[in-house]
Amino acid sequence: MRFHVMTLFPEMINSYMNESIMKRAIEKGIIEFNVYNIRDFSENKHKKVDDYPFGGGAGMVMTPQPIVDTYRHIIKTNNIENPRVIYLTPKGKVYNQEIAKEMSLEDDVILLCGHYEGIDQRVIDMIVTDEISIGDYVLTGGELPALIIIDSISRLIPGVLGQNESFEDESFENNLLEYPHYTRPREFEGMKVPDVLLSGNHANIEKWRRDESIRITRERRPDLLKKSCR
Ligand code: ADE
Repeated sequence: MRFHVMTLFPEMINSYMNESIMKRAIEKGIIEFNVYNIRDFSENKHKKVDDYPFGGGAGMVMTPQPIVDTYRHIIKTNNIENPRVIYLTPKGKVYNQEIAKEMSLEDDVILLCGHYEGIDQRVIDMIVTDEISIGDYVLTGGELPALIIIDSISRLIPGVLGQNESFEDESFENNLLEYPHYTRPREFEGMKVPDVLLSGNHANIEKWRRDESIRITRERRPDLLKKSCR
């Protein structure tokens, strides 16, 4: 899987991708990742990438030329046909695990990070295939959302996580939130690990975990339970 990120702040992306599991996945060659500075593609003599909005109003809008030229460079140099181009915006479809799974099947994903008031609509009409929001709040730019998307997709790709990490029980599988975890010591400052987890009875442990998952989901995310009943 190859990720291509278009941004005005490449270091924000690089610093995250150079640590921990993302770094290891890149070193192992399981994911490939390229960052492109949109400003480098500006034809303006001052490398300007934004301008005032037509019709007036607050803030600046990213101009189409540098973005479209960055995009053309990416698809040409990487030989990409029919690319998936994700624009990160609070106006987009709200991201979830299902979308992450579906995108993890792509060969290439291009992510476009906006700034200021947004980007010229013609860019969206011309090159964007998916407008994605990571939640109902507004950030200063698309870099954190892009990293969230890259991280959540990458961990689904075989080999990125360790052998022991299984997806079966984790949150959002089967539309349930995950059960609680405990490790040593058996008692911490007067708080005990639930007896059932020390019992060695696997059937009872399974049942306890499932009941806890359902209880927590009902408490926190009843909307997910409704989905699983559909
Ligand atoms: N850019 C600013 N806020 C955002 C959000 N919530 N999701 C995706 N991109 C954004």
